[in-house]
Amino acid sequence: MKRIGVLTGGGDCPGLNAVIRAVVRTSVGRYRSTVVGFRDGWRGLLEDRRTKLDDLDKIDRILTRGGTILGTARVNPDKLRAGLDRIKQTLDDNGVDVLIPIGGEGTLTAASWLSESGVPVVGVPKTIDNDIDCTDVTFGFDTALAIATDAIDRLHTTAESHQRVMLVEVMGRHAGWIALHAGLASGAHLTLIPEVPFDVDEVCAMIKKRFQRGDAHFIVVVAEGAAPDPRSMTLAEGGVDEFGHKIFTGVSQQLGREIEKRIGKEVRVTVLGHVQRGGTPTPFDRVLATRYGVHAAEAAHNGGEGNMVALHGTKIELVPLSEATKQLKRVPSERYEEARAFFG
Ligand code: F6P
Repeated sequence: MKRIGVLTGGGDCPGLNAVIRAVVRTSVGRYRSTVVGFRDGWRGLLEDRRTKLDDLDKIDRILTRGGTILGTARVNPDKLRAGLDRIKQTLDDNGVDVLIPIGGEGTLTAASWLSESGVPVVGVPKTIDNDIDCTDVTFGFDTALAIATDAIDRLHTTAESHQRVMLVEVMGRHAGWIALHAGLASGAHLTLIPEVPFDVDEVCAMIKKRFQRGDAHFIVVVAEGAAPDPRSMTLAEGGVDEFGHKIFTGVSQQLGREIEKRIGKEVRVTVLGHVQRGGTPTPFDRVLATRYGVHAAEAAHNGGEGNMVALHGTKIELVPLSEATKQLKRVPSERYEEARAFFG
């Protein structure tokens, strides 16, 4: 019997509630443990914003709900480090034996650092961007991919009717997983990802060639973090926000204007934005998030502290948080090469 703490940190993601439900069901049902939730990410621990999670009937119904019933927030890493004593105090006051933070790069890095500072934690990887290392996939990615693919399918028919170039911007700050997969799944004519700088002249040449061949529409999927080779186009600078994240200035809008200017084709730009993160998770994400939750609770009761749950093939395994947070998982060049077969 233990006391388990749970929080969700960083940007929200479809499947967070499925993890919370699985942690509660497993902890209470199998181990007669109790679970306390902390609201709004790490702030919940800095300010002791606790919430009870023991109404099993209520918890059962959150499986399909998007967002997170615990709320979430980004916290500046320096503020978090400065608040270590308060975090430990809140965990003590609530009698928490093991904390389960569910989050992306920022949350898991903080979890790793807390673990090194002596706090027992088990991490759960989430992000629609799919850029957490040491796991095959994060939950939320499949849902975002389904939304992006559906949107691009729809853009094909309107682009075709108007003989237009359509640019669709999807999320992906450092890694182009959503763009790569949505581009492949929807038969886009070009995909631009953060890992590979693009050349505007090459983009324009591809578009011109396709129109000359008689196919009168062209779809480009652009990851929000994609950037041109600076010799081919200058992208507006946005600086960084208080969390140290680069502020994007709208690469697809700027590229769209450049294409119109250089080859005189009519361009329309769609930015999918947070639509990709909202709503109910796909069945794949519900199952993955549920399995992550079960295994995180198991690890919390059986000495798995200091680890993150991860999908390897069909198995859920534990990997040290320090390993998982060393680097981001970015699209390898061979995966982009596969997609190139469909460009133009
Ligand atoms: O969850 C990751 C992510 O979706 C990024 O792809 C995106 O740039 C960012 O979150 C947006 O975050 P916010 O909700 O703070 O605008």
